[in-house]
Amino acid sequence: MPVSRQCKSLWYYFYSDFFQKLMTHLPQASQLIDRFGRTVNYLRVSITDRCDFRCLYCMAEDMVFLPRGQILSLEEIHFISQAFVELGVSKIRITGGEPLVRNGALGLLQQLGQLSGLDELVITTNGSQLASMAADIKAAGVKRINISLDTLDADKFKQLTRTGDLAQVLKGIDAAIAADFQRIKINAVILKNRNHQEVGDLVQFAVDKAIDISFIEEMPLGVVDQHNRAEAYYPSHLIKQDLQQRFDLVAIADKTGGPSDYCQVVGSQTRVGFISPHSANFCSSCNRVRLTAEGRLLLCLGNEDSVDLKAVVRQYPNDMARLKQAIIEAMQIKPERHYFDLNEQPIIMRHMNATGG
Ligand code: GTP
Ligand code: 5AD
Ligand code: SF4
Repeated sequence: MPVSRQCKSLWYYFYSDFFQKLMTHLPQASQLIDRFGRTVNYLRVSITDRCDFRCLYCMAEDMVFLPRGQILSLEEIHFISQAFVELGVSKIRITGGEPLVRNGALGLLQQLGQLSGLDELVITTNGSQLASMAADIKAAGVKRINISLDTLDADKFKQLTRTGDLAQVLKGIDAAIAADFQRIKINAVILKNRNHQEVGDLVQFAVDKAIDISFIEEMPLGVVDQHNRAEAYYPSHLIKQDLQQRFDLVAIADKTGGPSDYCQVVGSQTRVGFISPHSANFCSSCNRVRLTAEGRLLLCLGNEDSVDLKAVVRQYPNDMARLKQAIIEAMQIKPERHYFDLNEQPIIMRHMNATGG
């Protein structure tokens, strides 16, 4: 072969290989767009409704969990996640219940961590299993981790979670810090007269550990006993006022892909987020959908509109095209926004553990 042709074909192979690699690493535009023009690029996956805690804003004490046969297998979760990533989803958050109590959770994380096109694999946990699992979770490719912590008082922690042990969760947080995740965020649901007095101490805890924290307004999902949600409402602006007595906070434009609006604690690495489903609705920028443990694709946390993806994958196993079509069509029923009223009985009967927030 003449040298020039040989060179040409070498260049050709070099470039085509180069472009192919480039294309698989470039973020793909999501094909998932709803009726209101919002692009969905974030999937939250609840891998179990079970939990070792019984937080009183989340569950009733005598919670009945789904029978095992009714929940998606790990293989089905992986297949559905792959479909979403191929459709352009770039962030997957694994949630529960408590995701780390599901057998095989780590193996699933390892597999999801290898999905080409997925930029961010993240997890939300109550922290109870982190002391032993944090390093493996990081090694699986999980970049950021959100850990629920509503109080630093051991007795109050027991009251709020009914079964949780604060010391175990604090050990878990330290293990996560040692594992060197890109970012760690504490989630604290704030309830008037239960833990609202502690917001400053929680921020100080986050500052001392050089991690972030978000405060969440409680949402009326499912009927809970022992707790009046309207009386417990403590809005984000009051939390901010309380914090300003003690910290220098400046608003920042950072976004983490979730609904938090952030401030920076001046002179620290800590960002303080406010998730305000009541006082500052964020639905117009909603970029997410949820897969429940039983395989329902839920288009909004505050509405029941959903599509049964478990039925699709069980009726047509391995049929990726059919699954993707069902997901694309589901975008057409994503509601515009949630309507929560703390003074009424909840209109959503599903508890938070079915969706992981
Ligand atoms: P980042 O990736 O760190 O931004 O996380 P995130 O805020 O998306 O996830 P996380 O699991 O920490 O969620 C915190 C809480 O925000 C959830 O548990 C919910 O209470 C609330 N939240 C998240 N998304 C929505 C949403 O679409 N609607 C409503 N009403 N609340 C949401
Ligand atoms: N309202 C707001 N947040 C809730 N969470 C659980 N139940 C509720 C509720 N009813 C929070 C948990 C956790 C996140 C996944 O959801 O505390 O941080
Ligand atoms: Fe479990 Fe999280 Fe619900 Fe608490 S809020 S009971 S930790 S799922």
